[in-house]
Amino acid sequence: MQFEPQRPRKPVRRIDLMTYGFGSASEPAPDASSAPILYIEDITVSFDGFKALDGLSLYVDDGELRCIIGPNGAGKTTMMDVITGKTRPDQGTAFFARSVDLLSLSEPEIAQAGIGRKFQVPTVFEHQSVFENLELALYTNKAVWPSLFARLNGAERDRIEEVLAIIGLTESRYSRAGVLSHGQKQWLEIGMLLMQSPRLLLLDEPVAGMTHEETEHTAELLLSLAGRHTIIVVEHDMEFVRSIGRRVTVLHEGRMLAEGRMQEVQNHPKVIEVYLGA
Ligand SMILES: Nc1ncnc2c1ncn2[C@@H]1O[C@H](COP(=O)(O)OP(=O)(O)OP(=O)(O)O)[C@@H](O)[C@H]1O
Ligand SMILES: [Mg+2]
Repeated sequence: MQFEPQRPRKPVRRIDLMTYGFGSASEPAPDASSAPILYIEDITVSFDGFKALDGLSLYVDDGELRCIIGPNGAGKTTMMDVITGKTRPDQGTAFFARSVDLLSLSEPEIAQAGIGRKFQVPTVFEHQSVFENLELALYTNKAVWPSLFARLNGAERDRIEEVLAIIGLTESRYSRAGVLSHGQKQWLEIGMLLMQSPRLLLLDEPVAGMTHEETEHTAELLLSLAGRHTIIVVEHDMEFVRSIGRRVTVLHEGRMLAEGRMQEVQNHPKVIEVYLGA
């Protein structure tokens, strides 16, 4: 059983805002089997001397669906804050798609580079329909909103229909988002992120407050998205993490405590002591 992550090859240290990632003419094609899409190394974040992250390293493969668990205050949300540019670490490195230095980019630039994030509380537009919410999500520039309806081209309509089917809300497309269940709002918000076609999706406690059935449906949804997208999901719901059945990383006091399949980490004495045994 392996609890320490494999230390992958260092990425090329190169900042190229024009090409974000693979496939530029000046760069050789990546070897997807050996290059993680997210490469975080030795990240430390201090708040008034308290280390929320303490030398955290994390490597996530392209197309992977990774679950992150750990007790309250372990640093899970702070880790997402670092990846999305909301919080700047005191030290460490963070690369995305091999060549994108996340620590040198602003929050909008990181979103533009293909990283989408969902916070715990759904932030859908309650008075707009499900369809309109997805339509609005096409536009990151809010200045175009007043004139955007009826301007959709065929490809955009197709994409909205495709996302409606993915999130299971095709039949609710004309419903006001405000009347959806909590779970449906969460799926709609995931759909809104998908409209931007992110390569990496970060989800912080997506099933909190969901019914058992909604939780199961969310696990199926994320499994269906893996491969096409890389997904990092933070959750306390162990049933959900178990039903996902992919690699799990356990954080504790700002560091990685264990990593492996759920069956493995749940038997790790330290994990039982600080988290699962409680
Ligand atoms: N802006 C901040 N200022 C001061 N302390 C902070 C700040 N953000 C987070 N912390 C502290 O850093 C630690 C890690 O917090 P974080 O929110 O990352 O934990 P978490 O693993 O997401 O926990 P939870 O499971 O409760 O969501 C906590 O002790 C928290 O109080
Ligand atoms: Mg948190």
